[in-house]
Amino acid sequence: MVKIAPSILSADFCNLERDISRVSAADWLHVDVMDGMFVPNITIGVPVVASIRKHTEMFLDVHLMIDKPDRFIDAFCQAGADLLSVHLEACHPTRIAAALRAMEANGVKKAVALRPITSAKAVLPYIEQLDMVLVMTVEPGFGGQEFMESQLDTIREVRALIDRYNPACQLEVDGGIAPGTARQVIEAGATVLVAGSAVYGAADPAAAIETLRRAAE
Ligand code: DX5
Ligand code: ZN
Repeated sequence: MVKIAPSILSADFCNLERDISRVSAADWLHVDVMDGMFVPNITIGVPVVASIRKHTEMFLDVHLMIDKPDRFIDAFCQAGADLLSVHLEACHPTRIAAALRAMEANGVKKAVALRPITSAKAVLPYIEQLDMVLVMTVEPGFGGQEFMESQLDTIREVRALIDRYNPACQLEVDGGIAPGTARQVIEAGATVLVAGSAVYGAADPAAAIETLRRAAE
């Protein structure tokens, strides 16, 4: 069963509680953390995750688009994240390993994320210990960008590695997901769909979630 994870990047940050409750029929809530260094945009950080945690029981899928994310793993775990994704391009492999160890110690789910330039094989050193791999289908930094069809190959390659080394691992796809692209990424092997503008840009976000679910069936 495919999971739908609305991204609050496209929500109204002055009405976050309202906008989170509007997507409560979804499986996960996707939280995009950006530092203005790893990506050319700044969004939200630890205090906002802690506030969200007080107001929802939803599974918090926190996507860290920040440099040297190992510095902040404990803080995001204590703030109430359920899963953390660190980008493989964000620091040296030893620090990725340290970040994953910190997630394990805190009892949160562990994921690595790949920018479009990064090859699927980059997950190999970590694959057996991961709960999820996140494949970007846009350049990280902004919502509302066009889906990169060339990333379907990367999704298929990651799917093959997951099937071989860790079949329980989820494969999340993030960027430009709408009903048409949802179908394509599911066929390529995705199990979790992030959607920002397709959910929050719709007049009825709950109906948009349902449409994505049906497209993915
Ligand atoms: C982009 C973020 C995405 C973004 C997706 O860097 O990681 O999660 O919110 O937005 P849409 O679905 O509009 O492409
Ligand atoms: Zn994201």
